[in-house]
Amino acid sequence: MSASDFVIVILAAGKGTRLRSNRAKVLHRAGGRALVEHVVRACQPLGAKRIFAVVGHQADDVRAALEPLDVEAVLQQPQHGTGHALLVARRAIGNRVKHVLVLPGDAPLVGGGTLRSLLQTHRNANPAATILTAVVENPAGYGRILRKSGSTVAAIVEESQLSEEQRTINEINSSMYCFALDKLWPALARLKPNNAHRELYLTDVIAVLSQQGDTVLAQVAADAQEVLGCNTRAELGEVDRIFRARKSSALMEAGVTIQLPESVMIDPDVQAGEDTVIEPCVQLLGKTRLGARCTIRTGSLLTDAQLADGVTIEPYCVIASSRIDSGAVVGPFARLRRDNHVRAGAHIGNFVELKKTVMGEGTKANHLAYLGDARIGRNTNIGAGTITCNYDGVEKHPTTIGNRVFIGTDSALVAPVRIGDGAYVAAGSVITENVPADALAIARGRQANKPNWAAKRRRELAAAEKPKKSRRAKSRARRKSRPGRSARRR
Ligand code: UD1
Ligand code: MG
Repeated sequence: MSASDFVIVILAAGKGTRLRSNRAKVLHRAGGRALVEHVVRACQPLGAKRIFAVVGHQADDVRAALEPLDVEAVLQQPQHGTGHALLVARRAIGNRVKHVLVLPGDAPLVGGGTLRSLLQTHRNANPAATILTAVVENPAGYGRILRKSGSTVAAIVEESQLSEEQRTINEINSSMYCFALDKLWPALARLKPNNAHRELYLTDVIAVLSQQGDTVLAQVAADAQEVLGCNTRAELGEVDRIFRARKSSALMEAGVTIQLPESVMIDPDVQAGEDTVIEPCVQLLGKTRLGARCTIRTGSLLTDAQLADGVTIEPYCVIASSRIDSGAVVGPFARLRRDNHVRAGAHIGNFVELKKTVMGEGTKANHLAYLGDARIGRNTNIGAGTITCNYDGVEKHPTTIGNRVFIGTDSALVAPVRIGDGAYVAAGSVITENVPADALAIARGRQANKPNWAAKRRRELAAAEKPKKSRRAKSRARRKSRPGRSARRR
């Protein structure tokens, strides 16, 4: 079998009834990607002439997911089983190739190496079919392999059709097979929907081939995990756990410390440099890239974030599509929405939110601020409670703050506005006009002190209280002097 004489067909038309979901099964995600995308990525390097996916349930959505992956979709409508799916693909496959590698769209852990080895076995022996099988502890739910001789297969028996004796067979069908097409098409034509679902099972082809004297080989997967299917939420959870564990292991091997690796969730495209430390319960998603010697403390969630070397993210930060340069410190409890650039050595403290904002080198916003659509220079201090009022109800406007600026606590900067280098803004100001460099801007009501006002007020209050008190005292005295009171109590 040479590179150009086989095609790949991924079966991705099923509904996934056992997931109890509105979404097509192959679009459910595990390990940071749709199930079917994992399968496509595993088979892309194999050199097939073409890659097809049979789509049916929610066909448009599945097609859309496949579009960037260079896979040709074939529509199976309605879906009458895995054998029917392949029949539907027959015309698209055409006559120019000799073999097909069939893969289920719901078994995403399979690796390119395993598939290459399956192709190799098929290529070397040239049988009618070669099945990838696995020996597992718990075969429940999978089709079982009935061996004919040591290396050949007589049939695959589906779970629902197993005899009591066959139930103990622990070699399972992965649903990954190579077929010689000149053998497959006639065998498929002979299938009958002899099962409770009235479907054409691709698995029944094996018995047809074997009974007519054709060879069907089985190759046992070296790692049984690679064939796990995702038919239930529990299986989906388990497969996701395996992907995450694999990713964490790869990062640890590359010199990253991960504390309690089973508690972190890291997407496949994430990168991290040596001596970076990831604390428990961290999520690193999308295309997040961490430099060397970063610390991502507990509970933080980073999506598409780019961190240079030596960045510290304190606990419980939420960061999306932002760039953070070396030595910067963010958090705890900071939120960086999209498109921020935090330059070297800047500090973003607790309850600070940034959106589309540049924080210059060494600039600090240590507490309670909203900085949106702002460009802030070097070594500037943003006081607690500063707000850039960037939205006028219709449009967003920019705020520009220079170098070495001091923005006093609780200031509102009404955009568009510019604060020049070295300027001061007094605490509590509402700044609506530009502030020149090195100026002090005060924009708040002037304070008036009224001497002795408080002391006078206290005296007035005390005077108003006195007559009331004396009335109460008199009535108490009257009650005490009543005869017989003490005798009654005794
Ligand atoms: C199938 C195999 C079983 C094997 C298991 C491995 C059959 C009859 N059984 O069972 O022996 O152990 O996979 O995971 O093949 N699909 C279509 N069109 C259809 C029906 C299904 O494209 O009409 C697709 C599904 O989307 C799925 C794949 O085929 O990606 C397998 O179908 P699924 O229903 O998951 O089969 P299993 O019960 O898992
Ligand atoms: Mg399945």
